Amino acid sequence: MDFEELKGMCASCRKCPLGQSKKNSVFERGSRSAKLMFVGEAPGGQEDETGIPFVGAAGQLLDKYLQAAGIDREEVYICNILKCRPPQNRDPLPEEQDACMDYLRAQVRLVKPKIIVCLGRISAMRLIDPAFRITRDHGVFHKKGHFLITAVYHPSALLRDPSKKEDMLRDMLKIAEEYRKIKEQAT
Ligand code: URA
Repeated sequence: MDFEELKGMCASCRKCPLGQSKKNSVFERGSRSAKLMFVGEAPGGQEDETGIPFVGAAGQLLDKYLQAAGIDREEVYICNILKCRPPQNRDPLPEEQDACMDYLRAQVRLVKPKIIVCLGRISAMRLIDPAFRITRDHGVFHKKGHFLITAVYHPSALLRDPSKKEDMLRDMLKIAEEYRKIKEQAT
């Protein structure tokens, strides 16, 4: 399966009711050959309108952190656990996540990232550990298969609680350092 086939499958997916209520499925942003992949939780309103992940206020804040860490936003791959927007931006239900996970697994197989960064608690609980506690466990790297995986605060959480911003910058700088090492190994 290639990217376009997978994107098409997501657009026509009816495995959960969100497939009916969405305006657009939200598949990806950035480079399909990225070594660094970010995984958020689910599209919001602006993402639903445009079909592109992290274009709203949270996405703009994420872009600022990428810039602050010296990471080119075009070089990374960004997607979500859910491809369709939950109503009123509520948290994705476990059954919605279950229905959508195969699409994310397929994206990981196609992109083959060396580092995966979970954006927020929902993504970290799903991809790292169901007992993940974001305030305690953010910024810690784990080796999983062929890649490293870590989690940072969701940018929306930083908009609600600016006291988390220092930790976020520290974590993003650490991610940039790991990313730089991996890029060096590849050359
Ligand atoms: N929040 C997310 O988790 N993903 C998006 O694409 C936008 C906001």
